[in-house]
Amino acid sequence: MANKNSNLGAAKSAKKDEFYTQLTDIEKELRHYKQHFRDKTVLCNCDDPFESNFFKYFVLNFNRLGLKKLIATCYTGSPIANRQLSIFDVLGVSEETEDKPYKAVVTTVYDKTGDGSVDMFDVAELFKTGENTLTELLGDGDFRSPECLALMDEADIVVTNPPFSLFREYIATLMEHEKKFIIIGHQNAITYKEIFPLLKNNKIWLGNGFQGNVGFFESPYEDIAVSSQHKEGFIRISGVMWFTNLDIKKRHEEMILVKRYDPIIYPKFDNYNAINVNSTSDIPRDYAGLMGVPITFLDKYNPDQFEVAGYTAKDMGVECLKFYQDLEQSLNGEPFVRNMKSARFSPMISVKERPAKTCYRASNAEGYLIKTYGRILIRNKHPEAPKEAN
Ligand SMILES: C[S@@+](CC[C@H](N)C(=O)[O-])C[C@H]1O[C@@H](n2cnc3c(N)ncnc32)[C@H](O)[C@@H]1O
Repeated sequence: MANKNSNLGAAKSAKKDEFYTQLTDIEKELRHYKQHFRDKTVLCNCDDPFESNFFKYFVLNFNRLGLKKLIATCYTGSPIANRQLSIFDVLGVSEETEDKPYKAVVTTVYDKTGDGSVDMFDVAELFKTGENTLTELLGDGDFRSPECLALMDEADIVVTNPPFSLFREYIATLMEHEKKFIIIGHQNAITYKEIFPLLKNNKIWLGNGFQGNVGFFESPYEDIAVSSQHKEGFIRISGVMWFTNLDIKKRHEEMILVKRYDPIIYPKFDNYNAINVNSTSDIPRDYAGLMGVPITFLDKYNPDQFEVAGYTAKDMGVECLKFYQDLEQSLNGEPFVRNMKSARFSPMISVKERPAKTCYRASNAEGYLIKTYGRILIRNKHPEAPKEAN
């Protein structure tokens, strides 16, 4: 994979889009989708063929998955392109062409070198002999360029880790071209105005995911790789997830609900018509109304079990019932000071006693207000009957 290069950080540091997925993470996720790949054309459109582990995964599993074709394209701007087993080593072309973006098309994978196994050297040989093709792109390899969009139209399934800074546009392009996909993104994207409606309306969903939603990616960003948890040359990114629109088993697994509704434990928000549930595992099994849950709920979301009504933000499917006037904030018991910056749509719980932790008060609210994180509002489609009061 990518060697460190002193120019890398400077080249892309503003956007921080350069980090590369480990083969084991790709294998762990993609084993859940095996049934979708037979006779399909797969496109990896943010992937230097000789650097990306997505490309490597699909060539090495080409026959096992029964793929029809694999296409990979890379972007001129990618500072890692051609750093390892360069296509130029394979093709023997001049240095001036080194930074050109390429398109790799694979339709056959076999033990070309005759050494008894299939590996990347066979793939290199198959490019040399022309059984698979490696051609220069006309443009810079941007996924939005006409030639890359034509490849997207040819493909059945797009699989990659796209640049996070272009995630909205990337998903919009996939949706516009009606593509099936399995891609990596950040948890923050869940609440983007362009993405949340797709999740809410079951057009896209979360994949199986990274353990604890944390991933280690090879990256040139040495400045980030400072904590003891980091492996040399890797960055730790928390909140990484897989997004897909291919069906997976996990999406049909029912969450076992063990808690019962109790109005003290699950207070109603002051500004939304829903109760607050602090953790997905605490969702009561006998509450029929709207429940505000953390966004990580989507990791467990089964559309047969729950309906997603909206997110606590502007124009995200649910109505905010109250906008606070003369809002003041007290930080951990400090005196109240005016705070107009506090998000207008944040869910608030009203309490009578002043809490020691950070709280708010407003001229149109009773008591004190405790702000929660943004909540996804859901409804249980088959709630149990509430327990009879004695
Ligand atoms: C997060 S990295 C992932 C690379 C690779 N898919 C992997 O997972 O190892 C995103 C890649 O997209 C490339 N990229 C950035 N902008 C792009 C664009 N407009 N079109 C295509 N690729 C782009 C970056 O250069 C970078 O290599």
